[in-house]
Amino acid sequence: MKLWGGRFETGPSEIFERFSNSLHFDRRLIEADVRGSQAFARSLTRAGVLTVPECAEIVTAFESILEDAASPAFFEGADAEDVHSFVIGKLGERVGALADKIHTGRSRNEQVSLDTRLWLRDECDRARELLRLLMGACLDLADKYPDAIIPGYTHLRRAQPVLWPHYLLAYFEMFARDRERFGEARRRTNEMPLGSGALAGSGFPHDREAIARDLGFEAVTRNSMDVSADRDFALDYLYAASVTMIHLSRLAEDWILYSSEEFGWIELGDGVTSGSSLMPQKKNPDSLELIRGKSGRVLGALNSLLFTMKGLPMTYNRDMQEDKEPLFEASDQVNACLEMARAVAESVVLREQAPAAAVEESWTVATDLAEALARNGTPFHQAHRIVGRLVLESVRSGRRPSGWNAESLAQFAPEFTPEMADLLDPREGMKTREIQGGTGPETVAAALIAARVRLANMA
Ligand code: ARG
Repeated sequence: MKLWGGRFETGPSEIFERFSNSLHFDRRLIEADVRGSQAFARSLTRAGVLTVPECAEIVTAFESILEDAASPAFFEGADAEDVHSFVIGKLGERVGALADKIHTGRSRNEQVSLDTRLWLRDECDRARELLRLLMGACLDLADKYPDAIIPGYTHLRRAQPVLWPHYLLAYFEMFARDRERFGEARRRTNEMPLGSGALAGSGFPHDREAIARDLGFEAVTRNSMDVSADRDFALDYLYAASVTMIHLSRLAEDWILYSSEEFGWIELGDGVTSGSSLMPQKKNPDSLELIRGKSGRVLGALNSLLFTMKGLPMTYNRDMQEDKEPLFEASDQVNACLEMARAVAESVVLREQAPAAAVEESWTVATDLAEALARNGTPFHQAHRIVGRLVLESVRSGRRPSGWNAESLAQFAPEFTPEMADLLDPREGMKTREIQGGTGPETVAAALIAARVRLANMA
């Protein structure tokens, strides 16, 4: 079934057909295409183009097409140019000449926009749900070790002690923003393009608001040329997916490190790790490495469509057919990675003593000491210098914070008061950080509860 041809003396060459046909990938849009076409048939009926019985026949035939499309064999041997032509061809097999009316005044340019929007709307919802589940897994993992302490890092050097839940809540925030981004992408996707024609607006009196209501769209698009030219909604989705993958990739990198022999903080479940074909002792974090690796594919998909769109003249150009594969690729990868990350999070066991030892053997309390001096009146730069010298002296003599006490500190510098020695214990320093967003134990406990409430409101 070809939707054009009258103007040509010969058909397209075999090489061009093979080169340009998109059915093998855009068949993924078949449900959206059928739903959109059913709504279009109803609109044509309101516009007086189809009779009510004709519309009923077409809508029923579309329904049977959708049922048959559940079996992959349905597409076997199909030579249609794209999913839109394929569906109309199937309609013709079922309703005969009546099928010739379904495309009245409709262009595939608006149809492909509609189909992609319908499909993408669901994909945004799916990503938001998978993110919600992953956020729940992060909170569960935080709740398992509410008092565990780890060194927070900058430059991958031990920086300051933080609570394990505080660390996980940082990812919770990233994923919460990702959910918002998918929500924004959904909002911009959720505009109904039909009635735009090829680019100039339909020549038939469609009630566009009625089509929008029929298909659950919140608004109708405002400019027919924009409809044919626009793929911003696809870029929005790909951007949301890319940032999500960056977050997942960073989490993966953290946990690859933290589960290594060098760190030894966390144990990943057997179910999410693999062995080596040669080295019997290996337990490799392949699930996390694949998340990190697949992030490259999603970022690639975003770049692919950005480059495709750059510099295209108004309005539709066939280049835009190249939007589908990156979109499908990105959604496959981001959905799979969100599920995989959740399974990994559920499997993680924290060996609390390892990160606690890392906190204690390093001078992660140095900032706490400097701030205590400053609170007591020593100008901060001086305080910084005093503690810097204390650390240097300790590194030289191999002393940890626990190797000092009130007397030896006062001997080292008279600015140290006896209570400041308490801060040699990293848990004491954290108590000075009861500030909104900080790692103070009470603040973190409240943040965990607040996060649970936020999560419950997302359901
Ligand atoms: N398969 C096409 C796409 O995905 C549908 C639109 C074709 N329009 C056209 N004028 N050739 O972009």
